[in-house]
Amino acid sequence: MPRPAVLREAYQAPAFLISQVALDVEIRDEHTVVRADLNIERQRPDIPLLLDARHMRLQAIAIDDRRLRAAEYEVSSDRIEIADVPQRFRLATTVVIDPEGNRALEGLYRSGPMLCTQCEAHGFSRITPFPDRPDVLSRYRVRIEAHRATYPVLLSNGNPVESGDLPEGRHFAVWEDPYAKPCYLFALVAGDLSCVEDEFVTRSGRPVRIGFYVDHGNESRVDHAIASLKRAMRWDEDHYGLEYDLDRYMVVAARDFNMGAMENKGLNLFNAAYVLASPDTATDDDYEAVEAVIGHEYFHNWTGNRVTCRDWFQLSLKEGLTVLREQQFRTASRASGVARIEQVQTLRAQQFPEDAGPTAHSVRPDRYVEINNFYTPTVYEKGAEILRMIEALQGPGTFVEGVRRYLHEFDGQAATIEDFLAAQESVGQRNLDGFRTWYSQAGTPVVRVEDEWRDGHYRLRLYQQTPPTPGQPVKRPVPIPIGFALYDPNGAELELPPTQGLVREDLILIEDEAMELSFGPFERRPVPAFLHGFSAPVRLDYAYTPQQLALLVTAEADPFLRWESVQELMILAHAELVDGEPGAIVGVLLETLQRLAANPPEDRALLAWLMSLPALTMLAERQARIDPEAVVAAHQRLKLEIGAALCGPFSVWAEWGSTGERGVDRRALSNVALDYLAAQGTSAALELARKRAMNSHNFTLVLGALNALNGTGSSQRALALAACRESWRDDPLRLDRWFSLEARAIDGDVAASLQILLDDSAFTWANPNRVRAVLGAFGTQNWRAFHRPESYALYARLLLRLDGTNPQVASRLSKPLLRWRRYAEPWGGGMHDALMTLSAERLSPDLGEMVTRALD
Ligand code: ARG
Ligand code: ZN
Repeated sequence: MPRPAVLREAYQAPAFLISQVALDVEIRDEHTVVRADLNIERQRPDIPLLLDARHMRLQAIAIDDRRLRAAEYEVSSDRIEIADVPQRFRLATTVVIDPEGNRALEGLYRSGPMLCTQCEAHGFSRITPFPDRPDVLSRYRVRIEAHRATYPVLLSNGNPVESGDLPEGRHFAVWEDPYAKPCYLFALVAGDLSCVEDEFVTRSGRPVRIGFYVDHGNESRVDHAIASLKRAMRWDEDHYGLEYDLDRYMVVAARDFNMGAMENKGLNLFNAAYVLASPDTATDDDYEAVEAVIGHEYFHNWTGNRVTCRDWFQLSLKEGLTVLREQQFRTASRASGVARIEQVQTLRAQQFPEDAGPTAHSVRPDRYVEINNFYTPTVYEKGAEILRMIEALQGPGTFVEGVRRYLHEFDGQAATIEDFLAAQESVGQRNLDGFRTWYSQAGTPVVRVEDEWRDGHYRLRLYQQTPPTPGQPVKRPVPIPIGFALYDPNGAELELPPTQGLVREDLILIEDEAMELSFGPFERRPVPAFLHGFSAPVRLDYAYTPQQLALLVTAEADPFLRWESVQELMILAHAELVDGEPGAIVGVLLETLQRLAANPPEDRALLAWLMSLPALTMLAERQARIDPEAVVAAHQRLKLEIGAALCGPFSVWAEWGSTGERGVDRRALSNVALDYLAAQGTSAALELARKRAMNSHNFTLVLGALNALNGTGSSQRALALAACRESWRDDPLRLDRWFSLEARAIDGDVAASLQILLDDSAFTWANPNRVRAVLGAFGTQNWRAFHRPESYALYARLLLRLDGTNPQVASRLSKPLLRWRRYAEPWGGGMHDALMTLSAERLSPDLGEMVTRALD
């Protein structure tokens, strides 16, 4: 029986509130005993007490010290019901749980030398019986008891208040969190870990003890994470006036973690991949990712923890806002103009496809079966984009004021997206109703632009339309701020007098289905530029000529739009190659790139982006029905054409990696150049890449060289990969890179090659990073081998295997199979068949929900 959906409309305030939680967690070798003592107060008459409780054995239950008889309560597989309870009472429960057997990595589970917790969204009810919902906020006192030699470190939220030794080599620690919190922010860690300490003094003088807990041997790899945390703490004070509010900030790095990280109050838990970094083990992109996730989890302390979500439909209230804050932080801490390009790239490669597929949902969804399926690019990244548009219209100062008003008004409470919008409205001049539609409506709006040039006047007509999505056939218009400029054909920007429809000289706001603007008189037909800084998460549909795009690449000052113009040109060139031989468009593209190479922007990181080909997904999105073989073949051809035309500058830039040239930007460009050169297959390029992969001490350059070699099938590739495998064998994070390189290179007999990886002594289904390194890389980055009907069937069998132990990760990894309707035959039919086989099996609610939506 499939689990019934939860509906947003059905929300009811909690029937019972719990002011105090006292937990006693007794860790034994075979199992863990959890005793809970809850102070409960009824909010409405005549309602039974319902406690969520999963994967546990109830040993005792008492109200106000009186043990309940079996007839007084009912236990099912996911809850405990007590029909008759007083108005105000103490509930005591004792349960036994099995962290060692927990493969789902929700609740309390083992990861390497520790036991740790993941409670968002519903892990707490795998630890102790509790109303597992975010609008029940309580103060926690937690006592942990364990064997001292095995578990020397005992941590929970808040401040340590007591600790000591016990008989038989055991010890205990007591932690108290002064802030009331929802149970999803509870955390506990017990293990044998090293602690690296530091200190931060808040601007009002509160000293904060920082502690990073990592596996022994990794102490030297946390400097960057700690420095990032301190920068984030300072930035939040400077930008939002928000200070940290506890005496301790602890971060624990876990080897096994389903997601990126978790913002538990005062005790963040992290996937080790987002904490550990050193130049010889992490790429420059990894460094960026660590800073982003460290910042993200820190910013949650206000947006998420001090003010939390009323229910899980409001998830974007904390996630969208925290992603925006993380983006603002990272943009501020970087000199280069590429931060926004990276954000847009992520949004387009991940969120746009979701919004156009069977699992499309609004940023504030209306229903879910498994909430873990809604930690999506839509809730996170599109949620952040909505706020960015609000910020653009309110102005940055007013937006900050609105955030502060919201935090002040709802401090210590569980709030809604509506509450946030109302706070923004109360500080600004603007009615934000249109943005309420952004939150409730799925799908990416398309802005189609038509223009006309007559008698020296330039007229623009803009039409917006959002395509139908599952369950939402009819769409309403939304407010769309569109950055705007006009260029003279010689590249000079034209001054625009105040015109109806322009909110500012450089901003159009389209609010209805259509709008018209008129400019001029001009002497020559101008070239328009739209969406500066990607001012709205929409698709722009304007029929640029290759020449116009080439003009914008040099005329535009906005790094995003410069990149966008080259990307468009590359997409047009790719389409030309799908249809046949290189022609006029490829010609314009190559000239444009040559001109860029001869006259490069100061910002070398930007240059690296300008030279990079669009990802295969981006190219595929442009096809009416996706033919993966054609997409891959034309992409490869385009890469060869560009590599041949620019081999001069590429050879110079590729060498930058060898001459000890330092700096993130130069390394990025060197890697892009080396990739083009290696694709040419000359032995000079392959040897350069091999030597760099085997000898460089900089991991960015090593991985860049391996990536360049990986698609070549050369002997140099084989040598370099084998050498890396050997030297990375004791470092799980680098070994993941090796697995992923291998999974991306599989070709020929797919089943046999994949089986070799799965049979590797270092492969394990129990570690999400390792599983993602193989299945994730194969499903999303190896188009050649994955997009075959027999591979889809094989992939489905692997998902089923994984679903038996870790439904959350299995569900996420199902994404490459879901959009079968978009694919031409035989691919679409093959994906569909694979989904049908899955749907005939007993699936978890997680994977089951994804498969059902895909087939609906
Ligand atoms: N709140 C976390 C973050 O964005 C994500 C945790 C999600 N975990 C999960 N199992 N759904 O930082
Ligand atoms: Zn988050």
